Amino acid sequence: MNHLFARPGLSIAIACAAVAWLPMAIQVQAAESNEGGDAAAASRIKRGFEIVPGGVALNLAGRNRALVGLGSYLVNSAGCSDCHTHPGFAPGGNPYLGQPEMINAGQYLAGGRTFPPSPFVSANITPDYAGHPAGLTLTQFIQTLRTGHNPNDAQGALLQVMPWPFYGKMTDRDLQAMYEYLRAVPSLPDNPDPGPLP
Ligand code: HEC
Repeated sequence: MNHLFARPGLSIAIACAAVAWLPMAIQVQAAESNEGGDAAAASRIKRGFEIVPGGVALNLAGRNRALVGLGSYLVNSAGCSDCHTHPGFAPGGNPYLGQPEMINAGQYLAGGRTFPPSPFVSANITPDYAGHPAGLTLTQFIQTLRTGHNPNDAQGALLQVMPWPFYGKMTDRDLQAMYEYLRAVPSLPDNPDPGPLP
């Protein structure tokens, strides 16, 4: 015979204790996983600031520092500069030639890469005179990366070279972070000397 049935008072007490502990256990677990999340976020922000290319002076005035750091982490590891900086590397700083990497800070994200035989040229995605990267508001930027439709293009043509179907899968917060970082990079005129991959 089950002894718990023999002593109903005890079994109820055990059940109540278990129920009382359950939410606490869940809370502890949630706190632990949040700590992990915070640590991961902090390490990305820190890494983001470490990988801002040399010679690129960020303007952090009025910017959300955590978002800028995360945005740098994303922009500088997701290959935006690979197409939007031309030439991509400073003389003697091309890692593909085994040289220690030096991004071409003078044209950082100012566009000008051509993709022959296509007619497409990468855009200047530095902030315009009003501080808008590529001349886009945050909403327009997110829309462009999600849908491939540049709101500045009257015909609404789909971007053909830009890997927006992939970047567009990022969360709103990640896209916002990239935008916040792009607001902090130096504003440059369109690359005066466009061309293909050297
Ligand atoms: C493979 C090359 C390539 C990569 C990588 C790339 N882009 Fe682009 N991007 C382009 C080209 C080329 C255009 C212009 C039009 C097109 O694609 O047809 C463009 C256009 C844009 C536009 C629209 C602005 C305009 O006026 O046309 C934005 C915003 C943009 N890119 C942001 C980014 C960001 C942010 C990243 C990194 C997360 C990135 N791009 C990575 C090639 C690239």
